[in-house]
Amino acid sequence: MPWTGPMHTVVIDAINVTQSFGHTHALSGVSVRISRGEAVAMMGTSGSGKTTLLHCLAGITQPTSGTVRLAPPIGAAASLPVVTVSDLGDGERSRLRRERFGFVFQQGLLLPELTAVENAALPLMVAGISRTAAQQHAAHWLAALGLGGLEDRRIGQLSGGQAQRVAIARAQVNAPDVVFADEPTGALDSTTSDEVMTVLLDSTIDRGGALVVVTHDEAVAARCHRVLRLCDGRLVGGPHA
Ligand SMILES: Nc1ncnc2c1ncn2[C@@H]1O[C@H](COP(=O)(O)OP(=O)(O)O)[C@@H](O)[C@H]1O
Ligand SMILES: [Mg+2]
Repeated sequence: MPWTGPMHTVVIDAINVTQSFGHTHALSGVSVRISRGEAVAMMGTSGSGKTTLLHCLAGITQPTSGTVRLAPPIGAAASLPVVTVSDLGDGERSRLRRERFGFVFQQGLLLPELTAVENAALPLMVAGISRTAAQQHAAHWLAALGLGGLEDRRIGQLSGGQAQRVAIARAQVNAPDVVFADEPTGALDSTTSDEVMTVLLDSTIDRGGALVVVTHDEAVAARCHRVLRLCDGRLVGGPHA
């Protein structure tokens, strides 16, 4: 199928994605197109396929069938091809995740023995940037997300909301095309959740990234540009979104 729509705005195009685990059909033909600068919420009851869809879009798992394609990075040579994420092997998908995507989970999955700035700098250090430069850039992000002065705290010395901001900084430091967040505010009270969503939306959208956020919370979904609803592995309202 040709890549339709304006190339420079579409960042992820998923067509007819299915995912089965044995006899469980977690996704049954989902098509989703996500644009740069767009925040998309994914909602649905527990078991409806939200996490599975996020994992397929983000190249964490390979779908059983269907295609997931990723546009070249902004500013890349026009000749760079669209990448068919769903065709890549494990190693190539993990490289793609490191280089093009950022991730925020319900529990930040931060390393408790490291400080806030060391955690946030990790993706840059993995990319081969020197410790000093990586930590400078990470500290800049922490300050921008309201954590100035807390750079040297260990994760256990931060509140839940502060720890999620560290996770958001870590997801932003390498300017990913798409940030994927699975229930990022699931462990937070409603005020903190609202603050963390503001930080997550602003930090992603302001630099032209796209945000895909799985949530149970209508208040979180209402902050996004668009809401996709899943039921039994299908999009409510039709197969395309
Ligand atoms: N790795 C897996 N192995 C087997 N079944 C799975 C696996 N991951 C998800 N499932 C099943 O797929 C369905 C969708 O799960 P999931 O995407 O995690 O739902 P949600 O995130 O909406 O709660 C559920 O029935 C779940 O039990
Ligand atoms: Mg889930």
